[in-house]
Amino acid sequence: MDKKEIKKRIKKLCDEINHHRYLYHVLDREEISEGALDSLKNELFKLEQEYPEFITPDSPTQRVEGRPLEKFEKVTHDPPMLSLFDAFSEQDMADWESRTKKIINSKIPTSLKLRGTSANSHFAKAARGRQKSKIALDYYCELKFDGLAMSLRYENGLFVRGATRGDGKVGEDVTNNLKTIESIPLRLRKPNEAELKKIGLDSWQINQLLNAVENSEIVIRGEALMAKKVFNGLNEKYKKEGKKLLANPRNGAAGSIRQLNPKIAAERKLDFYVYGIANATDFRFKTHEQEIKLAELFGLKILRDNKYCESMDEVNRFHAHWEKNREKLPMEVDGVVVKVNNLALWPVLGIVGKGPRYAMAYKFAAEQVTTMLKSAVWQIGRTGILTPIGILEPVRVGGVTVSHVTLHNMDEIERLDLRIGDTVIIERAGDVIPKVIQVLPKMREGKEQKILSPENCPICGSPAERAPGEVALRCTNKDCYAVTLRRLSHWTSKAAMNIEGLGPKVVEQLVKEGLVSDAADFYTLSEDDVKPLERFADKSAENLVKAINEKKEVDLARFIYGLGIRHVGEETALLLAERITNYKLQITNLLDVLKIFQSIKIKKLEEIEDIGPIVAKSIYEWFRDVKNVELLRKFEKNGIIITQHATRNMQQNEFKGKTFVLTGTLDGLTRNDAKAKIRELGGKISSAVSKNTDFVVAGENPGSKLDKAGELRVRVINEEEFVKLIF
Ligand code: IVH
Repeated sequence: MDKKEIKKRIKKLCDEINHHRYLYHVLDREEISEGALDSLKNELFKLEQEYPEFITPDSPTQRVEGRPLEKFEKVTHDPPMLSLFDAFSEQDMADWESRTKKIINSKIPTSLKLRGTSANSHFAKAARGRQKSKIALDYYCELKFDGLAMSLRYENGLFVRGATRGDGKVGEDVTNNLKTIESIPLRLRKPNEAELKKIGLDSWQINQLLNAVENSEIVIRGEALMAKKVFNGLNEKYKKEGKKLLANPRNGAAGSIRQLNPKIAAERKLDFYVYGIANATDFRFKTHEQEIKLAELFGLKILRDNKYCESMDEVNRFHAHWEKNREKLPMEVDGVVVKVNNLALWPVLGIVGKGPRYAMAYKFAAEQVTTMLKSAVWQIGRTGILTPIGILEPVRVGGVTVSHVTLHNMDEIERLDLRIGDTVIIERAGDVIPKVIQVLPKMREGKEQKILSPENCPICGSPAERAPGEVALRCTNKDCYAVTLRRLSHWTSKAAMNIEGLGPKVVEQLVKEGLVSDAADFYTLSEDDVKPLERFADKSAENLVKAINEKKEVDLARFIYGLGIRHVGEETALLLAERITNYKLQITNLLDVLKIFQSIKIKKLEEIEDIGPIVAKSIYEWFRDVKNVELLRKFEKNGIIITQHATRNMQQNEFKGKTFVLTGTLDGLTRNDAKAKIRELGGKISSAVSKNTDFVVAGENPGSKLDKAGELRVRVINEEEFVKLIF
């Protein structure tokens, strides 16, 4: 190749590499593999080494200039780089919209002569809207990147200077570091006419633009940031190398931009997204949307999820969607930037202080907040591992209310030096389970208590142990988890609290997530606690919490049965309810129930018909166990109200004092309905046939109880006869 051909080849290589950069870094497409692209870059590098006279400033090899800087030079921004005002709620946004409309109303004269502007211009439309006294504003919504604001200056199409925001007026020249970012073109791409027409530009604008790309200046504003994937990858690498980890992607990006050595900056692989063209007025764009789309045609990267919104309702929907789905984005974002789309209105609205009136940062709910750790409880897992759960002063974080948080294990508690009563920082990012990330020790008052590792399983009382080399504490009773689930499912079951939608599967989900460790915990669940669980959505979470709260008023007999006291079935619970109602006629307070049970002597319990010494002992001990007493107090605190148990109908009838055993499936009524009816009429129910049984009601496919009835000569009736008896 002669020199002329070499120069040509170098130019071709530059264009080809740049084309693939545009495809890959801006349009997210790939036409050739990374290996193939590397070999093009290699060839270019070698040719340029041999013929340095052909190196151009926009050559892809010029991204990393090896020369470390002494310090960054100052750069003056023209126009200045502004900040945004924040909004935190739909109300804030509605207020902003009405303020905006008011200003437009007062500043655009109704009799406006629209000289020089076409009747269809946005300015004209806004003015006509004013005549109708109702201005319809439309918006362009972008995500608010959590990175660093940058200004890029292109002269005659060439990237000449990149600067940090600084104080908005003067920033620092970080051109060499920005050149290492592949999504920043070293030369602006020249769009073709068809592309420009497609985004709605007229011929005057097209001419102006094409001229500017080649012969004038264009100032781009946007955000330099580190993608989450890059951040995680770098931290993994730093961890292996024993280096200090990056605190978050934003710090990663800041550290990179502030590197005096561009080689180190290059390693951090930053990204750059555009959010504006600072000298947009030179081209008389109609809308901000056009401005952003043009930036993409210039070869810069925009976020494709940006959206034109016709109304504030649509803006609110966009915000709600991304607040919920922000973790799906490749970068960290902390809100939505809402801009009035009609650029003609920007100078009308103007700037106050450092911020424009035509835009608003509509923030997402904070992902880190402080709250207080009220207590810690232990939860048993499927494999017997005991996990400490922190009970928090409920707090809103990441858009939900959090009241429980897993503390993982004792090592984690010690690492955090966490104590009960501490003020802590909670983080909930996306749908990730909330966690305590830091304790604020200076906030301590001296009353805070250490969290101790229990010697016995706080759930079943068996010894708890920590196997050598393991961080986890285990309950030595291998059935403990199953027992917990059974106990909680028993509480929610039809015969006890009868809470709709709270079957064993959901109970297990709640236990697994650490939301529930005893039955009283059901009553503090919020919709936000339930929503993140698998198979739950807004409506189902609302229904579940409603179903639980509807059952806060509990029939005394059901309550006693639900406690799951050994040997206390439905019938015994009923007897006990009747008996203690005789002690005190008006029972609504759970503490009354506790007091009565604690004052009944074991002998008295044995006097109750059908309660033998074993059952009496079990009841007696249950109400004297500290853990159970605590549970009853917790029920009371969480709003459980006892309703008086309806005593049995004592009229003379077939049922009074009679004992029934049900067997087989009943056709016309449920077993629970049948039981309720028998009790209502003064009868009793037993689960086993004995000589004291008066009737065995046999449905379809009766079991061995029927044979037993035959043996003992107990009267057997079928469903039809039974129904006749009860109605
Ligand atoms: S527009 C007119 N759009 O937010 C104001 N800013 O407080 C110019 N930011 O320093 C900014 N994403 O770094 C705009 N889509 C976006 C943004 C965005 C993040 C940052 C920017 C600026 C700060 C404003």
